[in-house]
Parts: sequence; C-alpha cells; structure tokens
Amino acid sequence: MHDQDEWSNSRGPEGSLSDLIDRRLSRRTLLSGSLVSVGAMALPGLSGCAAPSSPGSESRAAGFDFAEIQRGMDPDMHVPEGYSAQVVLKWGDALFSDAPDFDPYAQTAQAQRQQFGYNCDFIGFLPLPANDAAAERGLLCVNHEYTSTALMFPGVASDFPASITKEICDVEMVAHGGSIVEVARVDGQWQAVQDSPFNRRIFGQGTPMDYAGPAAGSPRLAITSDPAGTQGTGTFNNCAGGVTAWGTYLMAEENFHGYFRGEMPAEHPETDNHARYGVPGGWFQWGKFFPEFDVSAEPNAPNRYGWVVEVDMLDPNAKPKKRTALGRFKHEGAESVIAADGRVVVYMGDDERFEYVYKFVTDGRYDANNRAANLDLLDSGTLYVARFAEDGTVEWLPLLFQQGPLTPANGFQSQADVVIEARRAADLLGATPMDRPEDVEAQPDTGRVYVMLTNNTRRQPDDLNVANPRPNNAFGHIVEITVPDGDHTATRATWEVLVLCGNPDDAEVGATWHADTSADGWFGSPDNCAFDGQGRLWGATDGNPVTGAADGIWAVETNGAERGRSQAFFRAPVGAEVCGPRFTPNSQTLFVAVQHPGDGRGATFETPTSRWPDFDDNIPPRPSVVAITRNDGGEIGG
Ligand code: FEO
Ligand code: CA
Ligand code: CA
Ligand code: CA
Repeated sequence: MHDQDEWSNSRGPEGSLSDLIDRRLSRRTLLSGSLVSVGAMALPGLSGCAAPSSPGSESRAAGFDFAEIQRGMDPDMHVPEGYSAQVVLKWGDALFSDAPDFDPYAQTAQAQRQQFGYNCDFIGFLPLPANDAAAERGLLCVNHEYTSTALMFPGVASDFPASITKEICDVEMVAHGGSIVEVARVDGQWQAVQDSPFNRRIFGQGTPMDYAGPAAGSPRLAITSDPAGTQGTGTFNNCAGGVTAWGTYLMAEENFHGYFRGEMPAEHPETDNHARYGVPGGWFQWGKFFPEFDVSAEPNAPNRYGWVVEVDMLDPNAKPKKRTALGRFKHEGAESVIAADGRVVVYMGDDERFEYVYKFVTDGRYDANNRAANLDLLDSGTLYVARFAEDGTVEWLPLLFQQGPLTPANGFQSQADVVIEARRAADLLGATPMDRPEDVEAQPDTGRVYVMLTNNTRRQPDDLNVANPRPNNAFGHIVEITVPDGDHTATRATWEVLVLCGNPDDAEVGATWHADTSADGWFGSPDNCAFDGQGRLWGATDGNPVTGAADGIWAVETNGAERGRSQAFFRAPVGAEVCGPRFTPNSQTLFVAVQHPGDGRGATFETPTSRWPDFDDNIPPRPSVVAITRNDGGEIGG
C-alpha cells in the first residue's frame, strides 16, 4: 500500500521538499510579500478575487474567433483547424520511475498506486515558476471519478459480477481518488514530470484523511475501525471540484451511494437518512470483501462520504481534510470566489434529479499574506441552499441548526445533523428542486454565476418550476445568477435562464439558442464549465450523444447581441464524456479530461467502441488528460 510517509523525507534535486516549496514559491510570491499571485495564477476565476472589478459590468471581450468543428461521432477526438490536441496523461502512466510498466492484462493494486488513475474528471492547474527545463510549469490536480470495470479488466464482463475478485476491488480502490502531477511545457509540448516531489496519488481507499468541521467526531460517523468518527480512509467518486485561492484542491464526493451494498439492520436510525441518498446503491462489489462497504456490518459508514475533501497541493505529506461544513450530498463541483470583504464563497451543485444548488460562505476572511491562516477557512461558515422565485430573484436559505425548521422537533440535534442530512434540511427550507445541478461557477468579473443543469427526463408537466421550465428535460439548460453589486455573500440575487439546450430546429425541444447558432453549435447535457482569461464561458457535456453527436466542448457567448450563441470547439472520441476543462492563466492551453472513452452499451475490455488514444489492439481505451493549444501559440478561442 502506498504510504504517505514515503514522502516525508523525500529530497528533490534541490534539497528537501519543504525547501523546494519555499524556494519555488519565493521567486514570485513570498519575496514580493504576497501569496495572492499564486492564487490568482492558479485560478483565472479568482483574478478579481480582491473585489469584482466592475460589479455587474459586461465582461471584457465578446465574440469567439475559431472555425467550429462539425457534429459527429467517431473513435478519435477533434479540434478546430489551426489547433492541436495532445494526450498528456493516460490511465496507467507511471507518476514515479519505480512504477511497474502498465500492463492491462495483469494490472495490480501495487502498480496502480504509482500510476495515473482511471476516469479523469475535474482538472485544476496551479502554476509554478518557469525553470531551465520549461518555460511553463504547473501542478495538475485531477479527480479519478470511478472505474469502468468491464473496460478496465479482461474477461469480467462475461460473468459479471461473479468474476469480480478481491484483487480487482483492490485495483479499483486505488484507481479511484485523485492525482497531483507536475507538468511542464517543453518545446511546445506538455509532459508529466515523473518523480516530481509534488507528485501524489490520493486513493479511493488507502489514504488517511481527517474529518473536519461540524460533523467531525459525530457518533453518526463512527465505524468499528474509527469509533471516534474523525479519521477517514479515502475518497471516491470525486466528480468535479475546485482550486482555492490558497492553492488547495477540492475534491467533490458525488455518487457515494453506489459503493455500498447489504441490508440495513432492522429499525436502524440511519435507514431513512440513507434512503434519501439512495444508499445502498450496489454498483460496486467492494462490500463483498470489505465490511465498511456493507451497511449490514457498518450502518454508519455511508455518512463518511458525500463531502468535499480539501488537499494541499503544495505539501504531499499533508493529510486531506473532509470539510463537513460544506454539507453532505452528491457533490459535483466546489469552485470558490473571494468576496469583496475577503470571505470565501464556494458554489456547489448536488447532482441528482430534483436536487439543489448550494453555496458556502466562510466566517473567516482570506489573507493573501498568510497562507497558513487560510488552510482551515472552510471549517466554519454558513451553508445556504437556493430558492428560485418567479419574480426573477433567488434567495439563499441558511442551513443552520435551530433556525427555522432545523430543530430537534424535526430530528436535528446539532449542526452535525444538519450537514449530515443536508438534503433533508434543504427540503424543509423549501429549496428549488433542479434538473441535476452539475458545475456552478462564478465568472471572474461580472458578478454572474453559471449553473449547469445537465438534464432530467423525470420532470413531469405538473412539477415544473420557474428555473426548471421543461418537462422531460432531456437536454438540460444553463441558469445565470447575477449577484447584487458583485457581492457573492448576499442572500438575495437575481437570475435568468441563459439557454435551454437541445436542437433548435425541433420545435418540440423548445431550445433557446441565439439564432446564429449553427447546426454544429448547439448541444445537450451541459456538465462542467470554465472561463478563459477573457472571462468567456465554455461548456463541456456529458450526455450529448442522445442528440446523435459525441460529447465535447462548446464556447458560449454570454454578452451583448450574440448572447446565447454557441460554437463547437472540441469533440471527444465515441463513448467518452468531457470533463474538467481548465485554461492555463495565459489561456494558451486548455486542459480537458476525456472520461470513459470507448464505452457504450455492451462495450468491454475486449470489445470497446474505440481504442483511443493508443489505437493498439492489445491496449484498452484509456481515460486521459488532453492539452489543446493553438498552432500559432495564441489564446484559445481567439
Ligand atoms: Fe459525475 Fe455530476 O457528473
Ligand atoms: Ca460531472
Ligand atoms: Ca469548472
Ligand atoms: Ca455528469
């Protein structure tokens, strides 16, 4: 098992790890008296972090300038003319030189611990100063959301789940989680830096972590191996996430219910709570071999998942922390923005049909000159849930113990109970049930927040609401929230629909794209989003194939006369969804996660729908991170 302590005395070429971090930071940040430049470099979305530059104003640029790609679906990926796409990190790539060679016919947990994990999702980028070897460097943090067992392992599909062995579960557990990997651009090409002292794997199981915030130490988190309910053993189904202004990586635990099996003990007090989250989901076989994933043996165990986990990207020895103050639900993303008064606001979606949009506002203030003082900011603050009203306002309702209905009369004895049962608390407050909230992200300049609502075909004509206006919403939509005076801490804001997605030529779909959107430019099922250096919105999809074309990335105009116009920029190989779009601070590179390529109905290790990116008959398709650049070196999107 990978031991975090392996790195405790690790020495890089320039000395001890802590020396190295200090020196690397010092060149541009510490000596200049501020770490904020690291944060600002890390997150283009935080470039206006001290205060929104011009509250409520239009963003700087309008219009994209690239030749859009055609709709379609085939085994390869596609970018516009004049652009290149390069695979940077593939499942199984060795992050450390002592890792065994990738052998998909004989994969082991020992090898996987040293290799890039499966099904890459969220991507964050924290710039590092240039060095002699590379003009551009940085740390990528990448979530490995889940494992596609039938595509990963030979022979399991024919006899599933009987053929799932403990050895397969062992591999799956360490193929989940996340990776932090140093990358460098050498001669125009991005490459992973093997053995970088920053390189780190975080595992689905096998990485010690702390519970922090109001639910830490709750008896409802207690299991046999952790009776105090304070020590975690891993994180899994991390979908999207975030990078904070202080250089930490937030991993959002999403569909945790799928990892539990078994029957709850009769009349157990957690039964209703688990039912609200779909526990036990029984997707994975881990509970056959590990009692912590069998609710009949460990009925509290599901309460240990569904959190946002914070990882210090600059200290590979730091224990990740599960920030329970941010609530327990099926977290998609966790991108943050610094309000004018210095408080940190984290926007979050709960990705399930009829679930809610949340934000968390810290009590403490971000200190650009004291990184250590920021490291536990996410432990205290107020969690809010959104209620969208017909008059175009949205109200943020606080999930606070003893306020409103969140009292012992309704079964809440503490704030720990409120965050553990965040969904039920939000139900009682009257939050607006949404069409699967995925990424929720603040635009850096305008005080606007974009909510990706991926789809909800179970929405019936009699349960529509103003923010979710279509029954059988197969194609999703994007809601735009505008905060007053650029203040992301405000408890009231205004909102409108940016676009209802789907085919604009099919009147029954009811899509609302700008009329100049081409036959290639519309899409369905927005999932993740990103802003480039000009503050322009880009959306990635998970589910566009229901429209007959592959998932991809689209540039979406939010301003001026072309508001609602969309253009196709990237197309994934068949079977894949597209996640984690992330621009480098200079906007010259767009990193993209291609997740579950080659998947499809009946697709297996032996019979994938694509063998991207190796296109070798002996290698299964490999989820990978791709770097897209412009051949002339300019900014992505023109
Ligand atoms: Fe893992 Fe919400 O998509
Ligand atoms: Ca997602
Ligand atoms: Ca995003
Ligand atoms: Ca999704």
